[in-house]
Amino acid sequence: MTLSEIKSIKGYVGNFEVTVQKRARYVNENECTACGDCAQACPVLKPDEFEIGLSSRKAIFIPFPQAVPSAYVLNPLDCLGQDPLICGKCKEACEKGCIDYDAQDEELTLKAGTIVVATGMEPYDPTPLDEYGYTRFPNMVTTIEFERLINAGGPTKGEVVRLSDLKVPKSVAFIQCVGSRSPGNEKANPYCSNICCMNTIKDTLMLKEHYPDMEVKVFYIDIRAFGKGFEDLFQRSKGKGVKYIRGLPGDVQEDPGAHDLKLFVENTSTDRLERHHVEMVVLSQGLVPSEDMNKIQEMLALQKTSDGFYLEAHPKLQPVDSASAGIFFAGTAESPKDIKDAVTQASAASARAARLMSSGKITVEAITSRVDEDKCTSCGICAKVCPYNAITVDKKNKRPAVVIEAACAGCGTCAAECPFDAIEMNHFTDTQILSQVHAILEKEPREKVVCFACNWCSYAGADSAGVARLNYPTNVRLIRTMCSGRVDEKFIWKAFEAGAPVVLISGCHFGDCHYIDANHWTKKRVEKIWKKMEKWGLRKERLQLEWISAAEGIRFSQVMARMEELRKTVTKQEIAETKNILRENLKKKKKKRKQKN
Ligand code: FES
Repeated sequence: MTLSEIKSIKGYVGNFEVTVQKRARYVNENECTACGDCAQACPVLKPDEFEIGLSSRKAIFIPFPQAVPSAYVLNPLDCLGQDPLICGKCKEACEKGCIDYDAQDEELTLKAGTIVVATGMEPYDPTPLDEYGYTRFPNMVTTIEFERLINAGGPTKGEVVRLSDLKVPKSVAFIQCVGSRSPGNEKANPYCSNICCMNTIKDTLMLKEHYPDMEVKVFYIDIRAFGKGFEDLFQRSKGKGVKYIRGLPGDVQEDPGAHDLKLFVENTSTDRLERHHVEMVVLSQGLVPSEDMNKIQEMLALQKTSDGFYLEAHPKLQPVDSASAGIFFAGTAESPKDIKDAVTQASAASARAARLMSSGKITVEAITSRVDEDKCTSCGICAKVCPYNAITVDKKNKRPAVVIEAACAGCGTCAAECPFDAIEMNHFTDTQILSQVHAILEKEPREKVVCFACNWCSYAGADSAGVARLNYPTNVRLIRTMCSGRVDEKFIWKAFEAGAPVVLISGCHFGDCHYIDANHWTKKRVEKIWKKMEKWGLRKERLQLEWISAAEGIRFSQVMARMEELRKTVTKQEIAETKNILRENLKKKKKKRKQKN
């Protein structure tokens, strides 16, 4: 559905309801033969977005060659006036009578069992990188602009020309990794955009094909030609005389008269500072997540990586699945990738979706939450904290919360946040976790560090430490929860009451939590507990919060060593005082509750 936008998505796997706004085209797409008479008659000229402003279009236009459907579209914001008295020329020119100024947007509701998210990406805008001067120098273009220039269907019919004088340049330089692989640079991104090396190699070959005598240089950090046949292409480019210079220019200056460009670069192969004079520069810009991804993320409660792309359920075993059942990823929505990888992923995503739908039913994980209807007061806190929108509460009619098991992923945040203990996590019940706390602290509690570790990152971090044969103190005892969000405040107090000197909660780094953003609730909860500890005169350092990923075995052992050092600072007397304070608080709490009742 073109010219359409997703307005809302409700429901869960097998029961999605998608509201789509289909914008008015003002041209009957079934009747339009794309003859172009309307555009010829239209007096409006606007920069052509598809040609990145290198040519113009009319207010009624076909967005790009091969657009589907092959029919004209009228942009009401560009149109002089749809009233025939003001303009109306396109309508007059259209013999088939396809133009309808009164067309209205439509709103459609679709039912879907599964969803494939393929929201694409945007090219990086190099404007903020002052050192390259993209907006100052007319003969510096981006890759996308270059693609339009060298395209036979583009504004120059495939002639690569300088924008300052429309002449074919004698020399062209490509600058790689523009906006990519720049950790620490706030104006750019730390990740590799995946496609730029091979795209530039392809562009250099095209240039050499069109203009064999042209001098072509590529400035790079390193060339990543890892795909099938890619190395061959790289060698072909070098064989055609393209010069590859290892080093990115630190400064670019313009020759004021001729508008040629001087690049100052440290060649890291020769360790020499060099100056290169070229007539045109192409900035090989990276890829960035599209802005619309945020809207879809909210609607579907998806996770994102720190790079801003969607996070898959598992990088190796579920590379096209989202963390929510029935939602899959395809293409650059998940990470920067080239066409071949995007097509492969799209095939995988559609196969995953088809497999699910053809079976007609799903098997849900046994680890889901369940509501004790007698205890539930319909306060709605569980629904608020659920990252998957898997809980509904009818507050108005005071109906107990309902868990949609098909949507529940089992993080346990609802169980930890419920102030009435009205939610239990199957297989990670309060009783089960508290039994572990008590078992750990039954003997010599002062010698123990109680560590709650989330299944996916911190617990796996312990495994990494083990596999790498790293040592960590034996005093540390791990209690596994699926997510750090499951660690209930009462587990902490019970541990301190039972004599724990130090309690550690460890989970995934922000952005890596396998339950979308459940670990944000962990942080909030721990901050609340720290405040209480301060108020009650307890040393808040005794409760620690650490983010450790599955790959951080070294960090895991270092954190555990630090916990052991901290444990040694906690005296017998401090533990005894803590117990007293907590008992007193408990008594006060009970008294208050009695008075209330
Ligand atoms: Fe590790 Fe949520 S899964 S903190």
